[in-house]
Amino acid sequence: MSIPNSLSRRDPAVLLHPQTDWRALEETGAFAITGGEGVRIREESGQELIEGMSGLWCASLGFSEKRLVEAATKQMSQLPYEHVYSGMSHGPAVELAETLLGMAPAAMQKVFFACSGSEANDTIVRMIWYYNNALGRPRKKKMIARRRAFHGSTCVSGSLTGLPHLQSDFDLPLPGFVHTTAPHHYHEARPGEDEESFATRLAEELEELIIAEGGAECCAAFIAEPVMGAGGVILPPAGYFPKIKAVLDRYDMLMIADEVICGFCRTGNMWGSETFDIQPDFMTVAKALSSAYAPISAVMMTDRIYQVLADNSRRRGFFGHGFTYSAHPLSAAVALETLKIYAERDVLGHVRSVAPTFLAELRRFADHPLVGEARGTGLIGAIEVVADKATHRSFAPAAKVGARIAKAARDHGLITRAMGDSLGFCPPLIITAAEIREMFTRFGRALDEVHAGLSEGDRQAA
Ligand SMILES: Cc1ncc(COP(=O)(O)O)c(C=O)c1O
Repeated sequence: MSIPNSLSRRDPAVLLHPQTDWRALEETGAFAITGGEGVRIREESGQELIEGMSGLWCASLGFSEKRLVEAATKQMSQLPYEHVYSGMSHGPAVELAETLLGMAPAAMQKVFFACSGSEANDTIVRMIWYYNNALGRPRKKKMIARRRAFHGSTCVSGSLTGLPHLQSDFDLPLPGFVHTTAPHHYHEARPGEDEESFATRLAEELEELIIAEGGAECCAAFIAEPVMGAGGVILPPAGYFPKIKAVLDRYDMLMIADEVICGFCRTGNMWGSETFDIQPDFMTVAKALSSAYAPISAVMMTDRIYQVLADNSRRRGFFGHGFTYSAHPLSAAVALETLKIYAERDVLGHVRSVAPTFLAELRRFADHPLVGEARGTGLIGAIEVVADKATHRSFAPAAKVGARIAKAARDHGLITRAMGDSLGFCPPLIITAAEIREMFTRFGRALDEVHAGLSEGDRQAA
């Protein structure tokens, strides 16, 4: 029960929240957080919770990393702001670009900074349109993404997104943004179709879509998250990305790897692109770039792209795109310190050492009567509950079974995220094996509680 004067109660009177049922919030009040320590956060009434989602898949170093606070304080007192338009520059911007490119796949040669994943993906679309105009290919502009993808919430990144509830009534996607099947073997594969054959079929479907959309003349690029995050933590089937790449090459299309969630050790390698054999022309990074302590994102690109954009910027007078806060000194300094910490503390080695515990604990739920699939890689995973394990039939969305489990988990001291009926796990990368076990123990209690309370109505067909 929240107190009348609490943040929880004051909040709905004034604050509009992203991705929230505003009417429901008026009744329930908000869930206000007042502090954090390691992988745990504290709610205003004093309840301690394990943040099993690192916020929004982002607070990779947890909630009390003093070095990031010091880096921010130092930068704020030295140079709180300057922009990077028209050749202006500063130390944190240059050092961060050097460090980031030093960690990125060798093909990445230049970096452009923005403030969010959405802005970075918008930037890439603008760059690709600019690129094809520069090459005299004015019709080559269509972008292909996947259903269930999440690439952001602005008009363009929201058009790349393939989640209907983020597009309905917003008149999205915009024309020129099309979607192909999600690589979700559990739901999309045909009976008896193994991962490899499923991947082959998805590549064939992509090719059919490209042809239907005007082929090489009209289709510019394909964007994909290595592991789909907000769509329900969906791992690509074996062999998927090389097969997709072969199709893209036939139609002279660019590959964009949206590494906003997967980048920086999350999948057990520095990049999701390494884990899943992706060879991108563009990479989007954000979130763990600064451990979410300050807003910053980046677009990285190959030299082939850069050369065309640079020539066109000369022809036009300048590259006419950017943000007041591109490479903001505070964010850049915090991001630089974050990357130093990853290297100095061997965060990748740590992720590799605790990932087997994470995956074993996650997969232990596969035998639970409610669980259809328990999937994951590195330190990212999901547990999907279904109405019928044998047929993979989902619960009716109105039953809100996933949301009920997430709510019960919160009552048991764990933040997980319901994406439909998939419950996500993406804890801070610093989590220990003991904390992982504690996280899943808390989850198990919530799952059992909701399972015990399910009615026949809840189980009826969607
Ligand atoms: C893969 C991916 N791309 C892009 C975005 C958008 O990032 P932002 O919310 O910073 O705009 C997100 C956010 O969750 C994401 O998961």
